[in-house]
Amino acid sequence: RKDVGILAMDIYFPPTFVQQEALEAYDGASKGKYTIGLGQDCMAFCTELEDVISMSLTVVTSLLEKYQIDPKQIGRLEVGSESVIDKSKSVKTWLMQIFEEFGNTDVEGVDSTNACYGGTAALFNCVNWVESSSWDGRYGLVVCTDSAVYAKGPARPTGGAGAIAMLIGPNAPIPFESKYRGTHMIHVYDFYKPNLASEYPVVDGKLSQTCYLMALDSCYKRFCSKYEKFEGKQFSISDADYFVFHSPYNKLVQKSFARLYFNDFLRSPSSVEKGAREKLEPFSTLTGDESYQSRELEKTSQQVAKHLYDEKVQPSTLLPKQIGNMYTASIYAAFASLLHNKHSTLGNQRVVMFSYGSGLSSTMFSLKLQEGQHPFSLSNINAVLNVSEKLKARHEFTPEKFVETLKLMEHRYGAKDFVTSKDTSLLSPGTFYLTNVDYMYRRYYTKK
Ligand code: ACO
Repeated sequence: RKDVGILAMDIYFPPTFVQQEALEAYDGASKGKYTIGLGQDCMAFCTELEDVISMSLTVVTSLLEKYQIDPKQIGRLEVGSESVIDKSKSVKTWLMQIFEEFGNTDVEGVDSTNACYGGTAALFNCVNWVESSSWDGRYGLVVCTDSAVYAKGPARPTGGAGAIAMLIGPNAPIPFESKYRGTHMIHVYDFYKPNLASEYPVVDGKLSQTCYLMALDSCYKRFCSKYEKFEGKQFSISDADYFVFHSPYNKLVQKSFARLYFNDFLRSPSSVEKGAREKLEPFSTLTGDESYQSRELEKTSQQVAKHLYDEKVQPSTLLPKQIGNMYTASIYAAFASLLHNKHSTLGNQRVVMFSYGSGLSSTMFSLKLQEGQHPFSLSNINAVLNVSEKLKARHEFTPEKFVETLKLMEHRYGAKDFVTSKDTSLLSPGTFYLTNVDYMYRRYYTKK
């Protein structure tokens, strides 16, 4: 099997959002903290009509329709999500409704959960399945769906919501370079959801930032050594055209790329430009721990890597800045932004991806793109993603209305016996939404 990877993609995000600038003022934060400090523009959220199940129903239905895929042609369906609606029943089982209707119940796969990493685990499962001896010739389908909401406080502006669907098979325009994968997984309490009565996580914000950067370093080192083993030469930033990161908020992505640049400098000073080398030299004796705490290093490395950030990272930042953290979908929404901005020039380009899920699990992996053939071509994927139109069709909520919505959702979380407003005026046709939850906690959805 040649070129196993992503054949097709679609994205869905709720039409409702708040401006970070307005939220900043409402929260009494200093001006610029959310927009410049965190680097975020807007944040999408689900109203009472939508949740991770409805978003995944919407995005899967849309993908199958837009690429004209017969639902009988799906042999494996994997979902990545960390938004718990049911402790036993997988989101995947709700999605089976789409396939049952066409007589296809022969679909392997269930949900994968570990914070923002579940989508990558689901993706690897599908790619590995297609590459394995149990593959039956049909497509794999991966869905990443999450609603990221935080309790009142400093983490609240780092929420978001959305779902991504990806069709997996051979001869893909977005194949994996499976040989180069670097993984780092350990036990840590940086972000977790121990309170099953609440949708909100417990988060140690500062620790989660450091864990993210430490995981990035470990994955990059392993990724580089695998590359070197197979290629017989050193890997550096210049060997990839783009870097796509899991994006809780943009500032962390800026810091992450700078960190890769610093890694290159440490491993091989000659791989970075002379001016940068001189500026980074004073930091070369820091211990690992010191280097995560050094504000000076952070600033200096961001500054010397800025021109490369603009070239290799900035094109993937649009959707994460506009939507916020979509947890499992976040890195793939960043990748979708890259397709949106650069689809016509991505042939033969290497894209390095960094997936991080607190707790923690992380992997760096690589994709080598090619134009592909309709309907599985980069240009058609870009047309289906239709990023600009989807962003334009959104409706801004005031921070007051956003907070009011969150209060209602707190009340509804884990509840039974209620009906929703069914006011679907903001949803576009084809969107699934929740109508009611009955006395047995059974949830009912319908399509606008
Ligand atoms: N203008 C410009 N910048 C400002 C302003 C201002 N008025 N005020 C603050 N800033 C900057 C700060 O200097 C800082 O930037 P820096 O790190 O480059 O110095 C940034 O804004 C954030 O300010 P902090 O005071 O560090 O923010 P705070 O501690 O209040 O919260 C945090 C930030 C920790 C990210 C919080 O939002 C959080 O906990 N989020 C959830 C956890 C998370 O997303 N972790 C990431 C990995 S895990 C995951 O994906 C869930």
